[in-house]
Amino acid sequence: MKIIRLKNEEQVGLEASKIVINEINKKNNIVLGLATGSTPIPLYNNLIKFYNEGKVNFASVKTFNLDEYKGLKPTHIQSYRYFMNEKLFKHINIDLNNTHVPNGIDVENPSKYDLLINENGGIDLQILGLGVNGHIGFNEPNTDFNSLTSEVNLTESTIKANSRLFASIDEVPKKAISMGLKSIMNAKKIVLLATGKNKAKAIQQLIEGKLSVDWPCTILQEHSNVIVIIDEQAASEL
Ligand code: GLP
Repeated sequence: MKIIRLKNEEQVGLEASKIVINEINKKNNIVLGLATGSTPIPLYNNLIKFYNEGKVNFASVKTFNLDEYKGLKPTHIQSYRYFMNEKLFKHINIDLNNTHVPNGIDVENPSKYDLLINENGGIDLQILGLGVNGHIGFNEPNTDFNSLTSEVNLTESTIKANSRLFASIDEVPKKAISMGLKSIMNAKKIVLLATGKNKAKAIQQLIEGKLSVDWPCTILQEHSNVIVIIDEQAASEL
């Protein structure tokens, strides 16, 4: 695991964007795994900036997002589909037909998502954020390390952490559709981003802890091509 420690979230986003652009420029029909949340926003802002400067072309890029809230339509302002459209896709020349977010409404047979990823050649580069409790995607503590895309229950701590984006905590869905830990581990390369003091414990477990379902992120210790990019605050318990 390669660890890159930087000063702040802006630098983390910039560094991650350089990695993504470098990979796209090596393989223009790359399959990207994308994440939502506040952490990757500086990354997406930099991708948009580099696109506007003519340094990257998304015309042949395909994307698969990690997760979606169960019960939220793609047009719902808190849905992850809406987030991706607003924060990235509508600002770049990506073909929306090449972008995929798990379906939060028609949730029958969610593991079809893994089949679709495989049919597209698998994920070349997976971007990950990190939950305060060490979740990746929406794979909460005690998730089976062999899990594929499925319907999952959110823990109280995740519901609370994510309630900041909803009008009230009662509006936060209690379930989601998430790529599984195995789905994530199948990616050829993984870049995990974490910023802020509230991620420090999960980062400490990811880097120094024992492999354990108590901290789902520790599964990444078993992957041969992972880059962890963190700011000073997220690194503060190392
Ligand atoms: C959600 C998402 C995760 C994300 C996490 C952290 O729970 N399902 O994929 O990593 O939030 O979000 P943030 O970056 O806002 O702290």
